[in-house]
Amino acid sequence: MKIAIDKLHFTYPIGLEALKGISLVVEPGEQVAIVGQNGAGKTTLARHLNGLLKPTSGSVFIGDWETTKFSTAKLAARVGYVFQNPDEQLFSRDVVTEVSFGPRNLGYAKGKVDELVERAMALTELNGKAEANPYDLSPAWRKMVALASIIAMDTPIVIFDEPTTGQDAVNVARIAHVISELKREGRTVVVITHDIDFCAENFERVIALSQGRVLLDGSTREVLGQEDILAQTYVEPPQLTRLGKRLGLKETVTTQEEFIKSLA
Ligand SMILES: Nc1ncnc2c1ncn2[C@@H]1O[C@H](COP(=O)(O)OP(=O)(O)O)[C@@H](O)[C@H]1O
Ligand SMILES: [Mg+2]
Repeated sequence: MKIAIDKLHFTYPIGLEALKGISLVVEPGEQVAIVGQNGAGKTTLARHLNGLLKPTSGSVFIGDWETTKFSTAKLAARVGYVFQNPDEQLFSRDVVTEVSFGPRNLGYAKGKVDELVERAMALTELNGKAEANPYDLSPAWRKMVALASIIAMDTPIVIFDEPTTGQDAVNVARIAHVISELKREGRTVVVITHDIDFCAENFERVIALSQGRVLLDGSTREVLGQEDILAQTYVEPPQLTRLGKRLGLKETVTTQEEFIKSLA
């Protein structure tokens, strides 16, 4: 499903203009990373996608729905939003109840709910933890519960806010796997991240935000190659990209694979 944002401005009630004219389109099935310094407006933008916030001016379309015309509850059938902090999202006493909540709430039949829950639990490797209380799990597993509970809703669009923050390498790999499966299923994925290596390894398109505006938007290679412009939003390209530049490689490299190919 397509996301179309046109001249989006948003001012918080205290008078702070957090988004200053954002226009962008995410095509159906596309996977995009959004990067930028703290306070750039990433979360404010993400919260417009599921209708938690509505534009002060401009428009946000989720498929053919303009967000101002639909409730957050309705939009939940189209956009899943994984909070940065699972503790803001989780409230059930056991994992399977938590993961079932979303699809049940969308009104799916029991057979379909069971199927969606089973698939989401398998994808996030939560089988065997179904009866656990999310609060007895490690932060890494709580994150997976948060992912599973959104994935189980089977929305065509999934938004992740800082999924890898505070996660170890094993869990980062798990999260990358989940995202690649969503891609295989043709779902549109938007990920907000500070983790530039994660961004380089897993996304073909990157949007850099700075002070409520789009600073750069293009292929990962194009965007991460613009070291000087990225610096305006305090994003450093991956170490490999910088090393490649220092070595005088002709092409911008963003992953180990590209780096090795370029050296050979
Ligand atoms: N609830 C709020 N009320 C007022 N200002 C806010 C609120 N949330 C965020 N802001 C401000 O909006 C700007 C963008 O914040 P945010 O979208 O959280 O950025 P990011 O996710 O990129 O760190 C910042 O200046 C932030 O202080
Ligand atoms: Mg944020």
